[in-house]
Amino acid sequence: MNVEELNVDEKIGNVKDVLSEAQKKRGVLIHAFQSIQKEHNYLPEDVLNSLSKKLNIPLSEVYSTASFYKHFYFKPRGRNVVCVCVGTACHVRGASKVLEKIEESFGIKEGETTADMAMTLETVGCVGCCGLAPVVTVNEEVVGDLNPKKVDEVITMVEEK
Ligand code: FES
Repeated sequence: MNVEELNVDEKIGNVKDVLSEAQKKRGVLIHAFQSIQKEHNYLPEDVLNSLSKKLNIPLSEVYSTASFYKHFYFKPRGRNVVCVCVGTACHVRGASKVLEKIEESFGIKEGETTADMAMTLETVGCVGCCGLAPVVTVNEEVVGDLNPKKVDEVITMVEEK
């Protein structure tokens, strides 16, 4: 039998209904997460609790679905997000020094947010601009070819936002 002859719907029978129900739930959840995160900048615990009750989906499933996706956050994030690339090209060209300097300047470690909520500091594996290494992103903006002077400029840019 070749692939074209397979009737997938017939083969999976009732499983199809179960799958489509699960897919619907997942689709609703993801849409809800996007709206919640747009409003709060992260997924607050009390809002996820309410969502769980409203949709009659166990809280564990709500969390498990949200945590599957890297772009949903469970902790408040700063108004600005600085992301230091620590991928191979950036690592080789001094990413750890860049990270250290930004950590020292803002008094936070990677993964933390300043107390005034001005900035969250993160790291990433590669942002796809290896030719500009070392690279950081400030919100949507990519800043590459970093040297100590440019790192100071990035720090000033964030402080002024
Ligand atoms: S490793 Fe940093 S941009 Fe690719």
